[in-house]
Amino acid sequence: MPTTDRLRSEQHFHDRQARSRAVTFRRRHNALCFTDSDYLDHETWLRPAMARLGDLTGRCALDYGCGHGMAAVVLARRGAAVTACDLSPGYLAEARARARANDVTVNCVAADGERLPFSDRAFDAVWGHAILHHLDVPTAARELRRVLRPGGVAVVCEPWGGNPLLRTARRWLPYPGKARTPDEEPLRPAHLRQLRDVFGHVEVEGHQLLAMVRRVWSGPRLTAALRRGDEQLLRAVPGLWQFCRYVVVTLRP
Ligand SMILES: C[S@@+](CC[C@H](N)C(=O)[O-])C[C@H]1O[C@@H](n2cnc3c(N)ncnc32)[C@H](O)[C@@H]1O
Repeated sequence: MPTTDRLRSEQHFHDRQARSRAVTFRRRHNALCFTDSDYLDHETWLRPAMARLGDLTGRCALDYGCGHGMAAVVLARRGAAVTACDLSPGYLAEARARARANDVTVNCVAADGERLPFSDRAFDAVWGHAILHHLDVPTAARELRRVLRPGGVAVVCEPWGGNPLLRTARRWLPYPGKARTPDEEPLRPAHLRQLRDVFGHVEVEGHQLLAMVRRVWSGPRLTAALRRGDEQLLRAVPGLWQFCRYVVVTLRP
C-alpha cells in the first residue's frame, strides 16, 4: 500500500478507537488517573523494559507512537522532559488529557514516526511500545538514530512474529483486544537485521513464552506461575526467546 494510504488507514483506525475511549473518559474523568504500577505491571515486559532506559532525571525523552500516553506520564514522573508523538489526533487528545489529569507536563506532537519533526540528537531516551510494527522498520530506525544523542538509548517493545504456532493462533483464535490495522505486522528476524543495519549492535529480550496464555486465560495465580516458569525456562535455554509473544529491543547509536 502506498505510504499515504497506509498513514490514512492507520490514522482512521486509531482515531476511531480513541473516539470510543473518549466516551468513557467523558463519563469518568477519573479513569485518566493512574499509578505507575497500573501501567508498568499490566504486561510482564513493561517494568524490565522501562528499566533499560536508565535514570531519566533531567533527560529529554520521547514517547514514540504514544497512543493513550500512559508511558509519557510515567517518563515525566521519573523526571524526564517528555515529548509524546503520534499520528492520531484522537489519541493525542487522550494523551494530553491524561497528562493534565495526572499533573505532569508532556509536549504532545502530531507526527509520522517515519518523518519526525525533531532536530538531530534531540533526545537522550526514546520509548516505543507497539509502534515499530506499524511502520516501515528501516525508515523508522534511521529516524530514531537521527533524533538520539550519542550515548542515548531507544527501547521498543513489539509483538514478535517468530513463532509459527503463535502466528497461527493470532490469525485464527478469537481473543480480547484482537483488532488490528491492515498493515501492522509482528516483528520478524528480517526486521531485527534491518535494525542492526542502522544501529550496529541490537539487544533483544523475549517475554511471555508460557505466559502468553494469559492473553486468552488469565488470573493472578496463573499469571504469576507462568511468569516464574518463563523466567526459569528463558534462563535455562536463552534461544527460546524466539518463540515468545513479545520482544524488548534496545538500540544504542
Ligand atoms: C498499538 S498502538 C500503541 C500505542 C501506545 N504506544 C501503547 O503502548 O498502547 C499504535 C500507535 O501507533 C500510532 N501510529 C500508527 N502509525 C503511526 C505512524 N506512522 N506514525 C506515528 N504514529 C503511528 C497509532 O496512532 C497508535 O497510537
